[in-house]
Order: sequence, then structure tokens, then C-alpha cells
Amino acid sequence: MISPQTIQQITSRIDIIDVIGEFVKLKKRGANYLGVCPFHNEKTPSFTVSPAKEIFKCFGCGKSGNTISFLMEHEKYSYVEALKWLAVRYNVEIEETFVSDDQKQQQLAADSLYIINAFAQKFFSEQLLSSEEGQANGLSYLEERGFRKDVIEKFQLGYDPQSGHAFAGAAIKQQYNGELLLKTGLVVERNGNLMDNYRGRIIFPVHNNTGKILGFGARVIGKADKAPKYINTPENDIYVKSRILYGSYFARQAIDKADECLLVEGYTDVISLHQAGIENVVASGGTSLTIDQLRLVRKYTNNLTIIYDGDAAGVKAALRGLDMAIEEGLNVRLVLIPDKEDPDSYVNKIGRSAFIDFIASTKKDFILFQLEVLLSEAGNDVTRKNEVVNQMAETLSKISKAEDFTKQQEYIRQCAEHLKIDESGMTNLVNKYKRDRIAKDEKKLPFEETNFNAAKNDQTAFDDNTLINQDDPQEKNLLKVLLEHGLKKWDEEQTMAQYIISELSQFQFDDPMHEKLFDLYQSQYEQGLEPTAKTLMYYEDEAMRTLVVNITMNKYELSQKWDEVMENMNILNRDTSRQDVVMSVNYFKLRKIKKMFEENQRDMAAAKDFEEQMKLIEVHKQLKDFEVQITKELGTVILK
Ligand code: UTP
Ligand code: MN
Repeated sequence: MISPQTIQQITSRIDIIDVIGEFVKLKKRGANYLGVCPFHNEKTPSFTVSPAKEIFKCFGCGKSGNTISFLMEHEKYSYVEALKWLAVRYNVEIEETFVSDDQKQQQLAADSLYIINAFAQKFFSEQLLSSEEGQANGLSYLEERGFRKDVIEKFQLGYDPQSGHAFAGAAIKQQYNGELLLKTGLVVERNGNLMDNYRGRIIFPVHNNTGKILGFGARVIGKADKAPKYINTPENDIYVKSRILYGSYFARQAIDKADECLLVEGYTDVISLHQAGIENVVASGGTSLTIDQLRLVRKYTNNLTIIYDGDAAGVKAALRGLDMAIEEGLNVRLVLIPDKEDPDSYVNKIGRSAFIDFIASTKKDFILFQLEVLLSEAGNDVTRKNEVVNQMAETLSKISKAEDFTKQQEYIRQCAEHLKIDESGMTNLVNKYKRDRIAKDEKKLPFEETNFNAAKNDQTAFDDNTLINQDDPQEKNLLKVLLEHGLKKWDEEQTMAQYIISELSQFQFDDPMHEKLFDLYQSQYEQGLEPTAKTLMYYEDEAMRTLVVNITMNKYELSQKWDEVMENMNILNRDTSRQDVVMSVNYFKLRKIKKMFEENQRDMAAAKDFEEQMKLIEVHKQLKDFEVQITKELGTVILK
């Protein structure tokens, strides 16, 4: 852990213009600086940095934060990595608080592995580019395959000489510890001597997403007859295969920009696509995707396009991990490369623009792809078709993020159509699977706390005059919905406003201004004044006017995704007001209940006697029931 003193020293020296200016070209505009936003594609600059407030905000995409969050977002650093980067820049010596001997040993081991790998990479690259043997065996092979020199250098490819002791000798001369050398997998022990493990092979360094070398893949030159085609680094402190995506370091910014990640199988696929100018691509190393790899993708984008060989094994490999990807909220699409080609050979065959067109025109939604595969397997067999219906319903029920409900609805519609069954029947089945799961995970709240926080951070960065509390987005959102839809009909008997008011009778707003606006609306409504944002915007109290403007002009949705979903629905010309109201009311309630939980917890800790404790436990149970009921409602009502 970095000590608080160090953090204080670092933050006191930060110059936000200096740091962001490293990555973005900034021009002074009045008190602020302006540049082209690095987080989305734009021509006219709307990325603003305020040196006085030490924050940045893009008025185009809405991204905002401070220096550390900029580094975390732009460079994909962790909090600690961002601090370390700043410490180096501002010459602050990092003082770490107490770490156990074990941790220290582990850290030392990891550091040494990185150091040895960096040394090895330089050694192998030099061999490839400058030695006679490297040029004759390695470089000529790579060039024959069509790899350009600049790309070979960018990916830091290398070559290990045939002799079998070239690298081992150089490493020993550097006095690297033998045990550590063995750990890196670069050398093996033969009759008490250290020998090169990758002799006569082309070397592909594997970088983590900040560019440090975790390990290597070493390919035989030409056809692999007896020896394995690739030898990879064994698992060690830093090379953990399930957490690695080859190429992520070179792809991360392109993925961010394109808002899409292409996933291929092999090293050469990544490199060839890069060479063709398609840079948003990473490789899984030919095994099925792990949850850690999916999360790595999700750091950059929600859109994953898997490009695999069209053979049966490729399809199988692609289908594994599907449910995990869905649970992670990724939009997964699939492209199969035809004719026994792989992305590397195919892009070389048809060229860049034909390849891009091919991907765009053949990429198929993963869920629908699965449906087609299963249906064609089932043929006319009624029992098997029934199984397909159930399997699809279960898959769809895993789209659990509240914001993804439109997506789910659309899938239900399309699946029902393909399966030639009633849409409402499919809906019921999906809901059944969902309810089963909710019953199972009763303890867990299915809504990510991070969404609440993300929404909060997004909106409060620039207006630090407003009173901020945790319930802000929920409260503002509910008020927004009330102002927008209040006068519409909820059902035959009441309006949306009446519905909301009655639903909220047991709850209170935490922000006094919000409560005041809610009361004002209610009293105007009861007087038959038909209040809307427009009428209230001219209300006498200036603070109230500001609040109304603020609420109606700004996005206070709980997440950007919800916003997108709502927008998509509007494109389809559907009236979303009802869903908007249900979501807002329930999110509001969930938030308040969560708070009551916390209070109850505190009271319980302070409870003096058994009787009091029992009472509080009873309250806890009631809250739990309430919470389950609401999450169920959020999960099911919206599907109607
Ligand atoms: P491929 O056999 O498709 O190789 O394996 P490739 O990437 O297309 O390589 P070239 O074009 O023949 O040179 C795909 C990936 O599976 C892993 C590697 O990561 C490889 O890039 N693999 C394959 C191994 O780890 N070991 C092997 O023996 C083979
Ligand atoms: Mn290949």
C-alpha cells in the first residue's frame, strides 16, 4: 500500500494541464483549456479542462473526472498504477506502508520476472534483426509471410538462435538467478545446465495492457512436424493465462475509439490485422474465453465481435463462454471465416477493405446464432425443439442487468418468431427462469452498486455547488419522470402522477430541495393546475427554477446504458413513459431500502438488549421481503 503521506505529496504536486496535456493537445480558452476529446470521436473540440477546479469534462460524451481518473480511464491504469505514474513524473519517492514478508517476496519475484522478460525481449529482437542467423532464419520467414518491418518492430518480435545456449549464456552473464530464469520458462535444465527453451523459434512477447512483458509464445519456423507449433510461458507469478488477452496493449485505444473489440485466436491474426490497419483486435490464444478475459474486454467496450475459423472446432470454441459473456452484459457477435482460412491468411488474401466489409456484413448476433445452430440440430423432432425453447429461455433470462431489458425484450420477440411460438409464452418462460434465479440469489442485489456511483460521479463533477448525496440520481430521475409523464394516463383510474404519489407515500426525499419540488408538484396537481417542467420553470423561487432546469436539461439516468436503451426505444417510436415510471419508482425505493438496511445494521450493533435486537431483526426481515418484491417487480413488470 502507498502511504497516505505519499499520496498527499503526489496530489499536491499534480498539474492537471501538464498531465492531460501529455495525451491531449490543449488550447487555452479563458480560464479553461480546450481539446479534442480522447474518449470519443469528434471534430470540434468539446473536451474541457479546468485548472482551477482540477477537473476535466467532455461536453460531447459527458466523461469527466480528475487527474487520477483521467489516467485510469485513458491509460487503463489501476488507482495505484496511476499514482505510481504521477510519482515518477513529479519525483515523489513512494513510501509503502507495511507489507508482510510474503507479500514482499512475491512482489520481488514478480518484479524480477518482469526484468528478466524485458532483457530477454531485447536479446531476441536483436538476434532477429541484427544477427546473421536471425535474419536468415527468422526475419526471412516473417517477411515471406508478409509481415512488414515496422510491424515486426512494433510487436517486438524476436528470434532465439539454434545453438541452444545463446540466451541462457547471456542471462547467466547478467547474473540472473537460475531459479527465476527457470520460472520464466525461457530456459530449461538439461544435465545440470541451463538451456534455451525456445531455440530456433520466432518469439512473440506477450504484453499486459500497460506494455510490460508477461511472457512469450515461441513458434517453430515453417511446418511443425514433431515439436509443438508454439511453446508458451508456463504459469507463474505474472503469466496467468486465464487473465491474458494477447495484443491488448496495442489495441486498447483503438477499441475505445471503435467501441468494439475484435477477438481472434492467434498471435499472427492480431499482427496481420494490425498491419492492415485494423487495430481493435486481441487474441485469446486458442482456448475458450474466461471470465477474467471478458472483464478485461469490458474495461474498454461492451461490444465483442468474435472472429473464429469456420470449422466445427472453431464454432464449438466460440459457443463456449457465451452465457458468461451475456451475464457480463456484453453484446456478442460472431463472424466465421470461410474456406479453412484464418483471419491472418484471409486478410492477406482479400485485403483490408474487403475484410472490413466482410466483418461488417457477416457478423451475427451470438444469441440468434446459437438459436439457429440448435434449431438446425433439432430438425423436426418436437421434443428436441421443446428443449431448444427452454434452453433459449434460460439463456435470455441471464440478461440480468436492469438496463438491458429492451435488449432482452427484443430477443424474446425474435426467438419466439424463429421458434414459431407465442411471444407471451416465451416471456413467461424467461420470467420463470429469472424468478428461479432471484429466489436462489435472494441475498444478492442484482443491481450493481457501481452504477449508482458512476451516475453520481458523472453528473457532479462540474457543478460542485449542488448538494450531493448518494441518492441524488435516483431522486432527480424520479422527479424528471414525474415532470415529463405525470399528466399521462397510468390506467383507467389514475394518472402517472397519482400512481407515483401513491407509491411514494411511505418514502421521503433526502434532499430538501427535491422534497420541496415534489410537494410543490403535488399541491399544484391537486389544485388542478397541470404542472409540467415548463410551468414550474417560471416558478417564483429561483432555487426551484434552477433545480427544474437542471433536472430537465441534464441526464440523471442511473446509467448511461439506460439512457441508450430509452433512446433506442424512442427510435422505434414506442412510448416508454410507463417503463420509465416503473423503473424510476423502483430504483428510488431500492435505494431508500438499502439505506434503511444500513441504519438498521447500525442500530443492531448498538442494541442494548435481546428484545431490541429481536425487533430489529424483524425489521430486517421485512426490509428483505420488500427488497425481494421490488427486484422481482423490476425483473418482471418491465417485460409486460
Ligand atoms: P493456430 O494453430 O491457429 O496458429 O493457433 P496461428 O496463430 O494461426 O499461427 P500461424 O499463423 O500458423 O503462425 C492459434 C493460437 O493457439 C495457440 C497460440 O496462441 C496460437 O496463436 N497455440 C496453438 C498454442 O498455444 N500452441 C500450439 O501448439 C498451437
Ligand atoms: Mn494462422
